[in-house]
Amino acid sequence: MTILDGGRRVHGATDYVVSVENAEAHLIEDPARKTGVWSYGGSVPGPLLRGRRGEPISIKVINRLEQPTTIHWHGLRIENAMDGVSGLTQDPIPPGGEFVYSFVPPDAGTYWYHPHHRSWEQLARGLYGTLLVDGDDRDGEFDRDYTIVADDWRLEDSGAFHEASLGNLMDWSHAGRLGNILTLNGKAYERLAVVPGERVRLRFINSANARIMSFGVKGQAAWIIALDGQPVPPQRAPEAGVSVAPSQRVDLLVDVEGQAGDEIAIVETSGDSNLVAGYLVCEKGQSERQRQPGAPESLRANDVPRPDLANATRSALVMTGGAMRFLQSATYKGESLDGRTLARKHGQTWAFNGVAGMTDDPLFKAGRGETVRLTLKNETLWPHAIHLHGHHFQIVSRQAAGASTASPPEGAEVDAMRDTVLVDREETVEIALLADNPGKWMLHCHMLEHQASGMSTWFLVS
Ligand code: C2O
Ligand code: CU
Repeated sequence: MTILDGGRRVHGATDYVVSVENAEAHLIEDPARKTGVWSYGGSVPGPLLRGRRGEPISIKVINRLEQPTTIHWHGLRIENAMDGVSGLTQDPIPPGGEFVYSFVPPDAGTYWYHPHHRSWEQLARGLYGTLLVDGDDRDGEFDRDYTIVADDWRLEDSGAFHEASLGNLMDWSHAGRLGNILTLNGKAYERLAVVPGERVRLRFINSANARIMSFGVKGQAAWIIALDGQPVPPQRAPEAGVSVAPSQRVDLLVDVEGQAGDEIAIVETSGDSNLVAGYLVCEKGQSERQRQPGAPESLRANDVPRPDLANATRSALVMTGGAMRFLQSATYKGESLDGRTLARKHGQTWAFNGVAGMTDDPLFKAGRGETVRLTLKNETLWPHAIHLHGHHFQIVSRQAAGASTASPPEGAEVDAMRDTVLVDREETVEIALLADNPGKWMLHCHMLEHQASGMSTWFLVS
């Protein structure tokens, strides 16, 4: 078999080679200001990897960094040995080393890949890429299919990567390391060609370390058709934009209304004023597509097992710590320490159930086929994006800060099977998963500084 480098497809449909290496990127409009990044195959984001539901895919990773690394396939329900978590499912790939990941993606949809070793540094420096899994003919219902990977970078005025802020405990105990430059697909202003009348699928991925973003397409009606890769019954996207927390994905469908020459803004709406992040650029012509009134058809659902809520075991995760409610004490590597020592000596400022960082024991053990109802109680004054590996889960209820009762989820979340849920400050969210994938699976906050600074645990499915 011929092997090409840099993430291109080699021999057949599903073998890739990805090298992890230093590169330069143009993240700012001014071409003179370049940024030294870490990359997959020389580009940020890394190469698009594309597989088919139910068909094997293999990716050979060559580590050309001076630091060990791994790759985690975020959101894919694959076998545990391929999950890419250093220290839990594999040893990290040393500098100069190689590792072949091979698995069969069970679900079609929008996924992504990133390191699971010093994630807070390696993702901030540019290591992430898209992994799309195609299903059946339903994928052909769009005229265009674009992936939009959003990241916020913290850069110096010169364009250089802001090194000094890596590992800053102030960030770690607050919202995480937030950037000052927003890119879509590694560009200051991404421009995506469309033709008026076309139906366009936009797959948003938030690859930022910590920033919760919201996206919309200015003046266009959009439908939410999938969350975290899994189809949902199509729903109108809120005009204020669709929230995409770190690591989450949202697929939108837009029927483009405009005229040749129009530049339709893709806006990031989480701040006080909308930020133009890119454009749909209308080219000449008019699509022949017949506009059907009402909601578009659903994407075909994947075979994700629904939890059995009536016959479930229960587990709870209580989040504590962080700025303004610092830990008094917590257990770290089996030792009970006061908050000051935890922060100063070990960089730990958050805890799950009174424990900072990974433990020898899992948060819960589940037998294969068992449903677990897991209460995520956020006692901190910061939102957290809680991610579970190897499974997708249903959101059972949410109880906002100060509310006396829990209520069922709303909007597109009603039928969603997510892999990451945003739990707001002082909010309690109950989720349920059917534990059907044996192995040791991580559960952590995907604000990567929070993950590194205490919010990591795991669960066991046997
Ligand atoms: Cu996106 Cu534990 O990972
Ligand atoms: Cu967090």
